[in-house]
Amino acid sequence: MNALEPHMSQETLEYHWGKHHRAYVENLNKQIVGTELDGMSLEDIIIISYNKGDILPTFNNAGQIWNHEFFWESMQPGGGGKPDGDLLELIERDFGSFEKFVEEFKSAAATQFGSGWAWLAYKANRLEVGNAVNPRPSNDDKRLVIVKSPNAVNPLAWDYSPLLAIDVWEHAYYLDFQNHRPDYILLFIEKLVSWEAVSSRLEIAKARDAEREGEEERKKRAEEEKMADSKGVEMYLDNDTDNSEVE
Ligand SMILES: [Fe+2]
Repeated sequence: MNALEPHMSQETLEYHWGKHHRAYVENLNKQIVGTELDGMSLEDIIIISYNKGDILPTFNNAGQIWNHEFFWESMQPGGGGKPDGDLLELIERDFGSFEKFVEEFKSAAATQFGSGWAWLAYKANRLEVGNAVNPRPSNDDKRLVIVKSPNAVNPLAWDYSPLLAIDVWEHAYYLDFQNHRPDYILLFIEKLVSWEAVSSRLEIAKARDAEREGEEERKKRAEEEKMADSKGVEMYLDNDTDNSEVE
């Protein structure tokens, strides 16, 4: 409980993890017992109950459970500093420099009005999200994006792969920083972020994307083969009809 001190206090973790996070778990369990959501993965519950932005009652608790687990795993004692390898290359490609990325991330976290989250995510989807509140609807894929989200919403709901999250609900920083959200954000970036966790999430996101592309490619080929086969049958039938006319 004191592993992240002095940057995040034991008291904050006792309240944030011990009470807030726990309450989301208890509330979701009560909501889904005996329903079709019982036994589904948390990710599936989130996507189903996000309901393309017209959110269902289970969404907030499910989203907050996932977001908090992800947030705890986004930090480590002795974190901060600068990433390296593929992650740094992509950050430099998509934001210009690591410093520019930090500025944009801090700004997203500071300007999320009221409760919510700021994220670094890998946007690989070419899928039709069909969702008016998707913050970056573009065909420009396979890139890193910074997005913010209100309340319990997370980038999974937009079919992005989240890589890093900061909780900017007041309960995340009030005990340690009172109303000084920017100070909390700065410490999170400089002393707490686990770039190791973010890097391994990026590798998983890219692998997931490659697997999907392969799957789409296979489906397309199967469709094309089916079309070619059915054309063959039509030609055969046409010929057959022609022959019967001659007779
Ligand atoms: Fe929180």
